[in-house]
Amino acid sequence: EEANLALIFDRYKDRFTSFPKEKGWMTEDLYKYQGFWHQSKNVVSVETVMATQDTFQALPTDIYLATLPKSGTTWLKALVFATANRNMYKDKPLSAHPLQTSNPHSCLPFVECEVLRTSPTYVNPHSPRIFATHMPYTSLPQSVLDSGCRIVYMCRNPKDVLVSLFHFANKLRVNSHDLMTFDVAFEMFTKGVIPNGPYWDHVKGYYKVGLEQPKRLMFLTYEDMKMDTAKKLRRLAKFVGYPFTEEEEAKGMVEEIVSLCSFENLREVNKDGALSIGIPNQAFFREGKVGDWRNHLTVEMSQILDQITKEKFHGLDLIT
Ligand code: A3P
Repeated sequence: EEANLALIFDRYKDRFTSFPKEKGWMTEDLYKYQGFWHQSKNVVSVETVMATQDTFQALPTDIYLATLPKSGTTWLKALVFATANRNMYKDKPLSAHPLQTSNPHSCLPFVECEVLRTSPTYVNPHSPRIFATHMPYTSLPQSVLDSGCRIVYMCRNPKDVLVSLFHFANKLRVNSHDLMTFDVAFEMFTKGVIPNGPYWDHVKGYYKVGLEQPKRLMFLTYEDMKMDTAKKLRRLAKFVGYPFTEEEEAKGMVEEIVSLCSFENLREVNKDGALSIGIPNQAFFREGKVGDWRNHLTVEMSQILDQITKEKFHGLDLIT
């Protein structure tokens, strides 16, 4: 994968290095492509997005789990992976479940990473492929837009996304001895300069599609998912084509998946080790709460963000 990333970087670098550029949250700069900021030299990056747009072929049966980073991607991956594959593991001990030993990111791939593989992730033509993506709606490959495949979007309130991203970035920057201050993080977030951001444009893009085509796009929020995970999981399972049967309900299958994918369980499973790209597994599990922003934002910062959100989401029934 690393070798392929270098090849793809070389293939696209002449194009994207002339794009508008800003200092990034991690070590790499962010480039503005099709209205959104993307990292480079990363598995999810401006060059892998461009390569995906050029080569990836969607199938109508595909399912896409779209999020902004730090909006609950890891959790959503775990829930959908456990739901879609539940028959494969139902007669085995719980300890044999992949989510009991592997990071959800190793169980369900980003579509942006398919261009890095020597052979495709999914080979069984009979079961739907499930991909995650951080791409904004308008940058999805044309074949995804044309194929009518289902999309699940999970959004999280902007203040918690900011706080989560701030801590995540500093976890990755710790080796460079150059930690970010929260003031700088806030400034960049309000300017829209976050990976795959601006926050508001990313959310709005998917939200509008969900309003127009509810059968095609299911819009979830991290906060609702936290409030009643079982209820939301039932809806999610139905939407992605794996509804729970009465028999499964009676056996407590929904609750089983909820607890397998709980923050506490996944954090424990992922307390050691790292992804192949080097990010420590534990970096994806910090607090897992709604409203941690109260411990970070000043009243003034909170008001500024509220104001921006009000303006950007004006006319939409989208309060976060
Ligand atoms: P915090 O930093 O607020 O704790 P992503 O997966 O998109 O990178 O988002 C990471 C955020 O989701 C982190 O938020 C992380 O703690 C939280 N998270 C990870 N797994 C979770 C789970 N199983 N349930 C709830 N939140 C989870």
